[in-house]
Parts: sequence; structure tokens; C-alpha cells
Amino acid sequence: MEKLAIEGGEPVRKKPLPAEADSIGDEEISMVLEALKDKRLRRSAVADEYEAALAKYFGVKHALAVANGTVSMHAILAALDLGPGDEVITTPYTFVATASVVLMQNAIPIFADIDPDYLTIDPEDVERKISERTKGIIPVSITGQPPDMGSTMEVAEHNHLWVMEDAAQSPGATYKDRLIGTFGVASSFSTISGKIIATGEGGFILTDDDDLYERIWSYHNFARKRELGWASKYFWGIPCTNYRLTEIQSAIGLAQLRKLDQFLEIRSRNAEYLTRGIKDIEGIEPPKEPPWGKRVYYYYVIKLDLGKLGASLLEFAKALSTEGVYDYHYTTTTRVPVPCHLQEMFTKKVGYGKTKCPYECQYYGKTVEYKKGQHPNAERACKDVLWLLEPHPLMMKEDLDDVINALEKVARTFTRRQSSSN
Ligand SMILES: Cc1ncc(COP(=O)(O)O)c(C=O)c1O
Repeated sequence: MEKLAIEGGEPVRKKPLPAEADSIGDEEISMVLEALKDKRLRRSAVADEYEAALAKYFGVKHALAVANGTVSMHAILAALDLGPGDEVITTPYTFVATASVVLMQNAIPIFADIDPDYLTIDPEDVERKISERTKGIIPVSITGQPPDMGSTMEVAEHNHLWVMEDAAQSPGATYKDRLIGTFGVASSFSTISGKIIATGEGGFILTDDDDLYERIWSYHNFARKRELGWASKYFWGIPCTNYRLTEIQSAIGLAQLRKLDQFLEIRSRNAEYLTRGIKDIEGIEPPKEPPWGKRVYYYYVIKLDLGKLGASLLEFAKALSTEGVYDYHYTTTTRVPVPCHLQEMFTKKVGYGKTKCPYECQYYGKTVEYKKGQHPNAERACKDVLWLLEPHPLMMKEDLDDVINALEKVARTFTRRQSSSN
């Protein structure tokens, strides 16, 4: 049997895989130069153009470019008047931002478990978690997978709740031919480096609601009124902040948006190539396509059969890393190692200003606990789902072949050892 690199054997690959670099080309460079030549760096004409292009692409009335995909969600929640005593239901299998923006409004995140196949929020569990304090639901299209938006919207409508989509990882994904980000009252996207379209830092908001749009706009720009522009500079009628995006980032975003369909196609092609190459390898399972829509590939994740492999996620990740096909940064802790509800900020109910607010708040009057065993599917996914790689446009066929070969080598060695020890 061939020797694993982690045990001193030859690694499958000796040079690093193409890094998760942003796909920046001549278009981005010339549009940034144009913006620089204009000598107006804070948001103005280029941001307007970027927003118009976003609204057109998604077929919505309003798009707003903002500083990142966290504050985009926070601005929406602030404009929705979420506050102390309110609950919002979201998934524990997500990046911290989704839950922390709820806390930023002094409201309480309540988690609902995920669908084990698609890793997105389970609408039936959402329904079970609704209380008299629930105001809204935040479904997340994790890895690029569209959630079951039909059932989620039904649950929301039936219970008079709003839906805000965290679509940070999924521009271009669809639910029954309708783009993710066009359901609910508003949606939020991130364009941080590494995301499908990237502006370094950045995000955007989509909404069809005129009034909500004006309120989000005002909140993100120091309570100014959009129609008065800078003329309304020194009148602050509401709590407010500055979440604006710059012209430079808008220029990059505009150039990236024009290439979005091309990026999506390359990512899907790379992902399909990987799936064809690994689908028969014992002990690992490629990502699933949902029956309700079309996913995009922000990330390519695989499910490990830990029993068959006789190894933990981390042991498998380390073996892959020494074969040269997995990012060594994630071998001490893989991506999404712990679901949100088991992170210390929740288990210890760390509040603001060294208090337990918003958990122990006079407006809440309830007790919430975050404990092991509450969301078994999410807890299991943190143990057996490996975020393998981004199938980004710089990945070539030869690179993907190395990944397939390394997966085959590691999985075969582990499964054979495991079956002979049984
Ligand atoms: C699901 C999800 N939500 C929110 C965010 C926050 O976006 P940002 O990093 O732009 O603040 C990210 C990514 O970073 C994310 O993956």
C-alpha cells in the first residue's frame, strides 16, 4: 500500500495549490484608475452605477453598496426596528456575523437546526422555535447552497415574520429559478476577498421595499436623507452610523459583477469535475444538489464517513494537507469547527458592557440557554463536513486532478486500515 505523506511517503503534490486569490483583471484595474482620476473617493457616481447594475442583475428595485457583509445585515435589522426583547431565528451552521448582528440590536438569536443533506436551515425546526417574541428569520445560503425558501417563506408568512436572507456566499444561486436574495424584505451579500465577487471588503443590500430602503440608506449614512444628499448633513433624527462603501471598491465591484456569470460557470465546472472524480471513493461523499434550486459554488465541501475512515475530521484534514492539497491553515481547526450555539459567546451569554444584556434584560423576561445536543444536525456537520476548497477560476484541471488523487489515496488508506482492524 502506498505510504501517506504524513507518515513519510511522497506527497501527491509538491507545489501549493493556486491560492484563494481574487480574480482581478484588466477591467478592475482600469475602472479603479478611472475612479482615482475622478478624485472623489467617497461614495458618489461609481457607487450609484454599481448599485444600478446590482439592482438590474437581481431584478430588484433597490441595491445599496455598503462597507461589508456584516454591517449590511446590521443596517437592515436596525431599519426593521429590531430591538431589546425581540428574537430572531437563524441557523447555527453559519459564520458568526449572522448571529452577532442580532445581538448588535440587543435582540436574541434563537437557533433552528439544519437539513443534514444541504446544511441550510430546516423550516420545520424554524416553526418549532417560533415564540411570541419572534420577529424574523435569517436563512443563510451556506457554501452557496440555496435554502428551502418556499417553506421558509410559508412559515414566515403564516406567522407574520419578516425574512432577511444572508446570501453572503451565494450570488447567482436560485430557488425554483428565482435568484436567492430576492425573497423576504431584504437580503445581504458580502464581497470580502475570497467571495464569489470580491472588492477587498464590501457588501450590498437588496430590497423591493421603498420605505425600508430609505430607512436603511439613512441609517448607513449618518441619518441623512437620500433625496437631500449632503445637504442634510448635520441633522440626526435617528440613531445612525457610517457603513458606506468607497468609490474604489464600487469600481471593483462593478467590474466583478460584469463577470459574475462567468465566475459562476467556471466554479460550477470545477465543482462538477471534482464530483465526477471523487463520487466513487469510499468514505467520502461529494456535495449534494438541492431538489428545489440551483446552487453556486462558493465552497466545495465533502462529507466524511468517519466510521468507515476510522479518523476524525482533523486527522483527515492533516493527512490531506501533507499530501499538498489542503490549506494547512485549517489543520489545527477546520472551517466551521463549532456551531454558533456552542461558541462561548453564546454558552457563556457574554453581553454588552460586561453585563448579560441582552439575555437578562427587563424587556426580554425569558431565559434562553445554548447547549450541546440542541441542534444535532449542525453539531454533526461540524464533525464530518470538510470545507475542502474554493473551486475558484484560478484552479486548473491539473490542480483538481491532484486534489482527486490525494483524496483517493488518503481515503483508501484510511478505509483499508479501518476495515482490517475490525
Ligand atoms: C454567511 C456569511 N455571513 C456574513 C458574512 C460577513 O461578511 P463580511 O466578512 O463581509 O462582513 C460572511 C463572510 O465573511 C459569511 O460567510
